[in-house]
Amino acid sequence: MKQLIAGNWKMNGLLAAKAEVVALANALKGRAVPEVLVCPPATLLRALIDTVEQSPVRLGGQSCHAKESGAHTGDISAEMLKDAGASYVIVGHSERRTDHKESSAEVAAQANAAWRAGLAAIICIGETDAERASGRMQDVLAAQIDGSIPAAATAQNTAVAYEPIWAIGTGKTASRADIEEAHAFIRARIEAKLGAAGRAIRLLYGGSVKPSNAKEILHAKGVDGVLVGGASLKASDFLAIIDGAKLD
Ligand code: PGA
Repeated sequence: MKQLIAGNWKMNGLLAAKAEVVALANALKGRAVPEVLVCPPATLLRALIDTVEQSPVRLGGQSCHAKESGAHTGDISAEMLKDAGASYVIVGHSERRTDHKESSAEVAAQANAAWRAGLAAIICIGETDAERASGRMQDVLAAQIDGSIPAAATAQNTAVAYEPIWAIGTGKTASRADIEEAHAFIRARIEAKLGAAGRAIRLLYGGSVKPSNAKEILHAKGVDGVLVGGASLKASDFLAIIDGAKLD
């Protein structure tokens, strides 16, 4: 499968930010590209559909409720994201796990909801600084993999994003060796859990990916793409990251 370059805008972007997606879509038209995904706030999805339609850019949501509809004030269902133009949804981002106390069981339910709606899920996992420093990184990742990735995950409906929390929004990127070590561990665990399907699921790295380090990360062993926060907000930066992808 192609590498996946996904942008997570988080709680950033008013309608004027459409100009960045217009620039991105125009720059990528007719080019050989990896798979490119932009996950803006859900309020912008509908406004961006026409912009990306004739381009390789796909749209995604940043989270979803596990239920299809109902009395859940302020929440958005996977079906609503699909209806608004999304083809992916990020679930289990560390900011959701922290700010909204989402458990791995809830994240798994959200991934199931994504599939029910016809969306692919990007399931996020990652350890804190303290967990790494105390030698618990592998236990934390194993528990998140076991709890957050449903058994029906396949390469078509799922990508897994390894996002060490200490590298998110800090400018502190994990080293190539750290990334390769974590990805090898995660791959083995996913394969043990899912068998052949686990071998083909794309494994993304996220955490302070930027134009200056994207190429090295995207060429690291076991890296099938990146999940980019801050540097996905500007088309010029995101394009420079996309340029670092492997195209074979
Ligand atoms: P960052 O965020 O690139 O701004 O570090 C990554 C993420 O949280 O997905």
